[in-house]
Amino acid sequence: MKDRIIKDILKEYDSLRLKEKEALIQKQNEVYAKIPEMEALQNELVELMGTASRNIINNPQDAESTIPYLKKRVRALRKKEQKLLEEHGFPPDYLLPKYRCPICQDTGYVGDMIKNRCKCLTQRILIETYQLSDMQDLDIQNFQTFNPDVFPNTYPKGSKVTQREYMVAVKKRLLGYVEHFPNNKRKTILFTGKTGLGKTFLLNCLAKAIMDKGYTVMRITSYKLFDRLFFSSLRDKEESIELLSYLFDIDVLIIDDLGTETRRNNYTQEDLFNILNERMLTAKHTFLSTNLSLSDIQDRYSDRIASRLFDTSNTMLIKFIGEDLRIISKSRQEI
Ligand SMILES: Nc1ncnc2c1ncn2[C@@H]1O[C@H](COP(=O)(O)OP(=O)(O)O)[C@@H](O)[C@H]1O
Ligand SMILES: [Mg+2]
Repeated sequence: MKDRIIKDILKEYDSLRLKEKEALIQKQNEVYAKIPEMEALQNELVELMGTASRNIINNPQDAESTIPYLKKRVRALRKKEQKLLEEHGFPPDYLLPKYRCPICQDTGYVGDMIKNRCKCLTQRILIETYQLSDMQDLDIQNFQTFNPDVFPNTYPKGSKVTQREYMVAVKKRLLGYVEHFPNNKRKTILFTGKTGLGKTFLLNCLAKAIMDKGYTVMRITSYKLFDRLFFSSLRDKEESIELLSYLFDIDVLIIDDLGTETRRNNYTQEDLFNILNERMLTAKHTFLSTNLSLSDIQDRYSDRIASRLFDTSNTMLIKFIGEDLRIISKSRQEI
């Protein structure tokens, strides 16, 4: 079954690269129409790269002296290209390919002579094999589509700022977090607040932005996560070890809706503690959201879990306040 899964994923990677190639040709044509001298410049760049690789193959003994010169020429041409683009209102990286994974450039493999699986591919294989992850919303829920207007401009009880102002400030704080990622002092983020306040949306924003920086991320609901762990531990010890080691390993683990998982006495508590503890010890990032209040968390989970979650030297606690967006949007439709 795994072979079939890998084959399908690699097919998807191929189509991603093809799509990007086509998009790039379209962008190139758009730019050439607006900036005619760009075509000559790009041809010069391509020619220069060709000369460089031919030189290295044919006269490897001269490589040391020719490479720095060629590199300098390429840099100068790239700079000229960027300047031209900016002068005509395009972003400076407009003609560079945009890969989902900047490390393997969506090939799934890294290394020149010996090819190894890129960690993005390993991640995908595990996610598909165990049907983990709820990442299907990342295209519609991200920092670019974050819409402040969905939040009412009214003051939640006891707040000096409106719900909208508050959420714009939360967004800004999280953008700052992404900017500094992975060197943040605090590596756990805990969102608390009632349902419908935008917690899952912002978790998705974080997931997408951090994946775009080339890190492995998984968002999964607490319910699904602990179900998978429980049933795999019953079914196959090895499978459950693989699963756990993957949960320890991934750069960012996002557990949405903590508190909705089925209570299975010690099982869930043990797994949750192990995941949190191991990830903290290895300085990995873990983001969680919950509808539970802090005292509900304390009641429901053991002290050692609560003390890790509430350790403010490692946890950034963000409380979501205000009115349920789903109810608001429903009542707006009815008007
Ligand atoms: N910043 C935002 N921009 C646009 N829509 C949003 C935003 N935040 C939340 N929503 C929408 O509001 C609804 C509730 O948000 P959600 O993130 O699911 O809340 P929670 O996880 O707190 O229950 C969803 O339909 C979501 O798409
Ligand atoms: Mg949610």
